[in-house]
Amino acid sequence: MKRLCNVCIFFTILFVSMMSMSAQKIEPLKLNKPDMSRGSSVMKAFADRHSERDFSEKKLSLQDLSDLLWAANGINRPETGMRTAASALNKQDIDIYVIMEEGAYLYDAKEHELKPVAEGDYRPLIAVQQEFAAKAPVSLLMVSDLSRFGNMDEAGKKNCAALDAGIVSQNISLFCSGCGLATVPRGSMNTKELTEVLNLSPSQLPVINNPVGYPVTEESKDVVTFDVGKFKLSTLSEKMGAGNTQTLIGVTPELIQKYLPDGFRTEVNAFLVKTPEKTILIDAGLGQGLSKNLKTLNVQAGQIDIILLTHMHGDHIGGLLSDEKKVFPNADLFLSKPEYDYWIKSDNKRAKTVLEAYKDRLKLFQPVEPGSKKQNLFPGIQGIAAYGHTPGHTAYLLESGSSKLLIWGDLTHVMAIQMPHPEIAMTYDVDAKQAINSRKKLLEFVAKNNIPVAGMHILFPAVGEVKTDGQGYLFTQKK
Ligand SMILES: Cc1cc2nc3c(=O)[nH]c(=O)nc-3n(C[C@H](O)[C@H](O)[C@H](O)COP(=O)(O)O)c2cc1C
Repeated sequence: MKRLCNVCIFFTILFVSMMSMSAQKIEPLKLNKPDMSRGSSVMKAFADRHSERDFSEKKLSLQDLSDLLWAANGINRPETGMRTAASALNKQDIDIYVIMEEGAYLYDAKEHELKPVAEGDYRPLIAVQQEFAAKAPVSLLMVSDLSRFGNMDEAGKKNCAALDAGIVSQNISLFCSGCGLATVPRGSMNTKELTEVLNLSPSQLPVINNPVGYPVTEESKDVVTFDVGKFKLSTLSEKMGAGNTQTLIGVTPELIQKYLPDGFRTEVNAFLVKTPEKTILIDAGLGQGLSKNLKTLNVQAGQIDIILLTHMHGDHIGGLLSDEKKVFPNADLFLSKPEYDYWIKSDNKRAKTVLEAYKDRLKLFQPVEPGSKKQNLFPGIQGIAAYGHTPGHTAYLLESGSSKLLIWGDLTHVMAIQMPHPEIAMTYDVDAKQAINSRKKLLEFVAKNNIPVAGMHILFPAVGEVKTDGQGYLFTQKK
């Protein structure tokens, strides 16, 4: 018997420590005192209430998150513990689970605090088929604990649960319309997996969820995030304007008339890749929009661990310096050896200032041929030779699980004409012939292997798929 007890204690300790391990990295989050002075009038909040399904990816500020939860179902009469949402028989059966990128939390109304429940991004379980919901920085999931209704009959409990959850959901909608946030009440969700992840008991019923975020503004339209397996790839766009057809080599007036009758627009993008371990910037744009775009994603300069450069033209390294000093203090700067050799011998002041500023953290490497198995950078990221536009121009292949994506730098500048005619080059290719060969080789590689691509001069959102049409190639933007 004693032995059995010891075994029980052992497994209890193991279970408790496993439970705490799963919520280990996310900490309790103390919420701010609600700001009672904010928001529009009640009647304006009603006038503005609507379901909004387009969210900026910007994280909610702590004050917005705090006020949102308090409005949803916080304690508004501390002397009695009564809540902002009514509940049948005041059974207070609704718990709010707060699902964010870093993990899932439980709102503790008494402490006005978020308690960690599970680490990891479970927003896709809320979103299911509606991808927009996974983009909202926060989803509030209303879960009714039917056991709080005591010995009421089952149908009565479920009825009260639905009504009580609906009232909390409406509090959220009115808070959002009154305070300029976006939300939509949703019945869709993966109830089975959420029940497992959140460790819900059989009496706890997920009823309705509200994704919440900032509405999409002009500013947030410059950033969009895609999943590549477990990686998150964000396009960071600096819109530029009209391009010049004089920069195209090998075109005829007929081709211009056919593919670019209205000229073309050009854009500059950098990309941010978040792997489970690292935050990686791929190129740094002109430097005009990078810090604003990183701010939209709530990423500080000090949080960038790695910078991968495709090459060192000014529209790819502009954001690396501010007043000639390095912007990313904790980042290793990866650059291909042939690219380094080219610029270090050049008299290009900007490139040399970058190399000087980052010299302590510079990591030179040799790119591999497409299709090579050699992991020349780190697990999940390979540097691939795409020489010609510059002597060491490099593409980066991301690989997470069975998902892949090639960030191809300046393999193309004007998609509308270089996809059907990869033999068209640019006046600013250092070696136009080599650039054409690299373009043809990589286009064949991605089309044959169904690998999605992203590019620094593809129009926003700059991510899509390449297919061959027998002669040239077709590109379809990802939505
Ligand atoms: C119980 C309930 C479940 C809902 N489920 C979803 C959903 O799964 N997905 C969605 O996009 N909208 C969902 N909605 C939002 C409705 O489609 C929306 O409220 C309705 O079209 C009216 O639009 P309005 O909210 O702008 O007035 C749901 C609304 C309610 C009340």
